[in-house]
Amino acid sequence: MTERNLQRMRDYAAMTEKRLSIPITEKNALQRSVIDAMNHSLSAGGKRIRPVLLLEFCRVCGGDIEKAADIAVAVEMIHTFSLIHDDMPCMDDDDMRRGKPSCHKAYGEACALLAGDALAIYPFELIAGSDFSAETKIRLISDLSHSVGTEGMIGGQIIDMEHEGKAVDKELLTVLCAHKTGALIRTACRMGCICAGADEELLSAADTYAEKIGLAFQIIDDILDITGDEKELGKPIGSDAEQNKYTFATLLGVDGATELAERLTNEAIEALSPINDREFLIELAKMLAERKK
Ligand code: IPE
Ligand code: IPE
Ligand code: MG
Ligand code: MG
Ligand code: MG
Repeated sequence: MTERNLQRMRDYAAMTEKRLSIPITEKNALQRSVIDAMNHSLSAGGKRIRPVLLLEFCRVCGGDIEKAADIAVAVEMIHTFSLIHDDMPCMDDDDMRRGKPSCHKAYGEACALLAGDALAIYPFELIAGSDFSAETKIRLISDLSHSVGTEGMIGGQIIDMEHEGKAVDKELLTVLCAHKTGALIRTACRMGCICAGADEELLSAADTYAEKIGLAFQIIDDILDITGDEKELGKPIGSDAEQNKYTFATLLGVDGATELAERLTNEAIEALSPINDREFLIELAKMLAERKK
């Protein structure tokens, strides 16, 4: 990535992080442990890819990124909720996340469960209170809730859990990944467009780009679970093998899976043609395909 684009990425992450923690006040002091648990998982270490995508799509569609920052925060909170629950003993049973003890390791299971729940709900309050028109807020809430529920991330997580120990084919793996990881990445890109009042052509370009990079993103995640460096990743490697997960890396081998991620990345870049100012999004797709964390 050029230095200019790297700086833009850092700026987007900083805009998000500035708003990302939940304040402890006199009024909520009794609930302190759950808020501490939320802040533990929200702070430090995340790549903030979904906020970056949301804010960049908002910018290239001519929107106000300062206004959209609340919506970027909402998406990052939902993502963080998915990670907290994903790490719990009843799911992937992982002890490290974002370079720190997983939420349940630091705060116990009950508190982590509730911290995840709160991070699933609070984003909708944030959107409802944001600076957009009532119509835009309804579109945002409807898109996000659909992408988190059974037709989206949660749907993907149950398919993932119920296929542990089973050899799944490419079609099913694609559906699984499109739900558990793709859905939230797609909504991040679409919500950026919605914040800017973009037309159908731009929305559809964003959606196709997101669908492709979303699938590539999970494929790389599966590869890094085998080839990655735990310290750099901030989470354990070998987790998929331990839970008997059948992934793109097991199905196609590391080389085959890498090739597929590259092909998807190229397709994502092609989908950007209706967007004039697309250099950052092109570089971002390439960077994500080559990422080591
Ligand atoms: C990890 O997401 C979980 C997946 C959906 C693959 P990220 O790789 O975006 O995790 P953070 O936010 O950087 O920690
Ligand atoms: C999780 O996929 C996707 C989510 C919805 C959180 P993984 O289980 O592979 O994510 P990591 O590797 O734990 O981050
Ligand atoms: Mg998982
Ligand atoms: Mg996991
Ligand atoms: Mg993984």
